[in-house]
Amino acid sequence: MTKTCKYVALKNYIPQGLPTEDDFEIKTKEIKLNNKNNIHVLNSWISVDPYMRARMTERKNYKPPFKLGEEMEGYAIGSVQESDDDYFKIGDTVFSNFGMRDNFVCNSGQIKKIHSTDLPIQSYLGPLGMTGQTAYIGLFNYGKLKAGQSVLVSSAGGSVGSTVCQIAKNLGCTVYASTGSDEKVKWLKNELNVDHAFNYNKVENLVLYFKEICPEGFDLYFDNVGGDFLESAIFRMKNFGRIVICGRISQMNVTSPPSGLKNMAHVLVKRLTIKGFLIFDHENDNEPFETDMKDWLKNNKIKFKETVYEGLENAPKAFIDLLNGKNIGKMLVKI
Ligand SMILES: NC(=O)c1ccc[n+]([C@@H]2O[C@H](COP(=O)([O-])OP(=O)(O)OC[C@H]3O[C@@H](n4cnc5c(N)ncnc54)[C@H](OP(=O)(O)O)[C@@H]3O)[C@@H](O)[C@H]2O)c1
Repeated sequence: MTKTCKYVALKNYIPQGLPTEDDFEIKTKEIKLNNKNNIHVLNSWISVDPYMRARMTERKNYKPPFKLGEEMEGYAIGSVQESDDDYFKIGDTVFSNFGMRDNFVCNSGQIKKIHSTDLPIQSYLGPLGMTGQTAYIGLFNYGKLKAGQSVLVSSAGGSVGSTVCQIAKNLGCTVYASTGSDEKVKWLKNELNVDHAFNYNKVENLVLYFKEICPEGFDLYFDNVGGDFLESAIFRMKNFGRIVICGRISQMNVTSPPSGLKNMAHVLVKRLTIKGFLIFDHENDNEPFETDMKDWLKNNKIKFKETVYEGLENAPKAFIDLLNGKNIGKMLVKI
């Protein structure tokens, strides 16, 4: 039987600056179950993520640009409505990369069944999903996190950052968390128990501020923002410190050339390790991440917060607001 799929499409590429809602459109198309696509899924949760911004330009990146006028891919959770497949049954909860659409048809190779549903299903887009795994792999595989270290985290009130803070706290580290609003500062301090949270918009000179709050310097900096913040952190790292380059959100929408590091001498003299990584290289590195994360979540050692926008039509706004820092924790769209 033919069905109608409603989806979000990019209307035009956005070479620089912040996207606006006019850059997107809501469209419909007919879809059909057939021998090749024998599973029908209704989406219930959609993830919006900063990496999508890079796919909105024509520039070559680690993922190709979104195709104009077509469905924007991204992580989503849904439930199976019809299935001709032995493994996927009606009612199964599934994870996909079918993103910004209300329903779709696919084959068994394109979705993953979620077996454990004792945690809210949308946590598979947050702490148990890509952002949680990014925090975990970034800290352990690249940051070589050790108990008792001093750890600086930027964009700490967001999905990856808040998970990084809590994992580090679970290991007995001292956590310094930077975020963009007083409300997020309060959440980080009062509920996530970070040792020191601050609003970077209120700090005049980051280097001096870091010196004041952590005079001995940082062992590890988990960098979600890049730009001047990264440069300031380099000034205040300990000898042999490690910097994990996870994201560069402060540079994603700039309209002038991005800032470059002017203090490489500190990298040399302090013998720093600076390492970039992409979680897409670790899609199959599920263990020990999943076991540890489920354990932490069940024991309330990782708390997660969501900012939820309702309705597929609001997905572009959710994405733009994510870039503008309107989210606390994971930004999600419920449909
Ligand atoms: N390497 C990887 O494989 C990988 C995977 C996932 C995510 N990431 C990166 O990790 C970072 C966090 O991702 P997420 O999904 O957890 O997003 P998020 O932190 O939940 O949301 C993005 C946050 O970025 C902050 N921000 C926006 N503009 C900024 C600016 N000019 N300066 C400083 N902060 C700014 C805002 O918070 P404030 O209120 O603090 O400004 C906003 O809430 C992003 O850079 C993302 O690209 C990398």
